[in-house]
Amino acid sequence: MKWYVGLSNTGHDPALAIIDPDGRVAFAEATERFVQVKRAWGILPDLAAHLEHAIAHVDFDPARDQIEVCTSWSTTHKRPKDELTNPLMARHMLDSLYDYQGCQFNNIGASFRLLELTDQPIEVRRFEHHACHAATGVYFSSAEDAVCLVIDGEGETGAISEYAVSGRRLKRRWRAWNAGASLGLYYGWLTLRCGFDGIKGEEWKVMGLAAFGEVRDDLVAELSRVLAFENHRPVNRDDEEISAILSEVETRIAHATRTPQEPIMQAADLAASGQYVYGRFADNLIAGCMKHEPSSLILTGGCALNSSYNGTVMQRFGLDQVDIPPCPADDGNAIGAALLAWCEDQDAPIARSDRSPYLGSSPNPAKIAACIEASAPHFKVSEAGENSANLVARKLAEGQIIGVMRGRAEFGPRALGNRSILADPRPAGMKDKINRLVKGREAYRPFAPVIPEDRLADWFETPQPTPYMSKTLRWRPDKLTQIPAVAHADDTGRAQSVTPELYPWLHDVLVAFEAETGVPIILNTSLNIMGKPIVHSVEDTVAMLMTTGLDAILLGDTLIEKASR
Ligand SMILES: [Fe+2]
Repeated sequence: MKWYVGLSNTGHDPALAIIDPDGRVAFAEATERFVQVKRAWGILPDLAAHLEHAIAHVDFDPARDQIEVCTSWSTTHKRPKDELTNPLMARHMLDSLYDYQGCQFNNIGASFRLLELTDQPIEVRRFEHHACHAATGVYFSSAEDAVCLVIDGEGETGAISEYAVSGRRLKRRWRAWNAGASLGLYYGWLTLRCGFDGIKGEEWKVMGLAAFGEVRDDLVAELSRVLAFENHRPVNRDDEEISAILSEVETRIAHATRTPQEPIMQAADLAASGQYVYGRFADNLIAGCMKHEPSSLILTGGCALNSSYNGTVMQRFGLDQVDIPPCPADDGNAIGAALLAWCEDQDAPIARSDRSPYLGSSPNPAKIAACIEASAPHFKVSEAGENSANLVARKLAEGQIIGVMRGRAEFGPRALGNRSILADPRPAGMKDKINRLVKGREAYRPFAPVIPEDRLADWFETPQPTPYMSKTLRWRPDKLTQIPAVAHADDTGRAQSVTPELYPWLHDVLVAFEAETGVPIILNTSLNIMGKPIVHSVEDTVAMLMTTGLDAILLGDTLIEKASR
């Protein structure tokens, strides 16, 4: 039997994935979760300890099975660093990425030998970055045929690629690569001008801030010049031309920008206008895809994390289905690289799966037992067993804020119920309470609603499946007053729609919560504090209970409450 380990080796957001001999994901996890450092810049995706941890989750036997190692970058460095230029990216970012990637290219294989996963020299199989994005997109889509649009920062062969998906096989139609063709780098550039941190990946702060600003004609006119399109594809412009345009634009928008020290709301109009212009750029690309009259569109690449835009696409373009994988950014390419190797060896299409995002680590049962035992003298401990969904729903309805560590971790940036903080969306003060007492983050930032998929039409104006919290939808005006804690300033919510097939436990919580309150919606945010990745260990989850305003945590099916015993 042959297993495939995929490694995302872009230099930032490293991740590893293991594909089983049937072509399905057996394990996938971003390195940042394991090392508990946001984005894990420069860390090897096959870090020995993480690889050992991952292999323990699957049925691989080195005495019986073979292992293939695959990466999501098709080249090694052949061009001198000095030849790399990109006016939209700061020099120190370019240099660091180049050096980190070189380090990753040179070291792949060492951990496999150390752990005796193979006694053969590792021959790394390298796959094109955008093909990896596309393969991951198809894996998490139910579509047989579609158009797959990769909108990215920068790959080794492109910043934008369009693929035809036929019978779940990929064929590239076109790709564009020049500095002026990257929507991802445009958004990164915008992020810096709004006073946020590109290295920390704070593009989503721009999205959140956009709801508070005004789309201004003067800013739109300037920002629209950063990229140019013709026939729905980016126009080739050389570095000199782009630099000259950027310099003019930066001067003319200077009055609307902010430094990190200045008040956040100072950049609200720039964020709103920049987000609007991003939508116009992306619309242009999708309009090109529509020439092929697809009924399904798969959006992926880092820009597919733009949930505000994603939620507007399906109805406006008359599509039946818009699918976005739970991991559209570079971490997801660990899956794509391994899938492409499997497809190549089997001469087979990308396998269908149950589409579950629960592909990461399981909490260690012995550690859960030890933490429960240690907690017993200090906290109220309730072994809920199969009744845990009902118990959590009741406690939420009573106003508790509950951290959940249950089952395998989600793969991708969103907490989707297994490493989540859950709360009642009805109290107006709940958002501020969680931002201040639990997460320690900016007051303006919204929280996401989770809702049964078959109830979407009752609550949203543009209902559509969004199982991985990747689309922001507009609330129906008559519903807003019922769920103030999950309504953003522009009357939207970044929804997670839940079916009993994909999310049985979370669906049970929603059903029980509606029985208690009449509202089938719960606030869901990731189980972490600001600046840290989502928790990985049982001990860190207990630490969050003890050091934040969480009222309780659910470890497995045991509820541990601060309330007096
Ligand atoms: Fe990418």
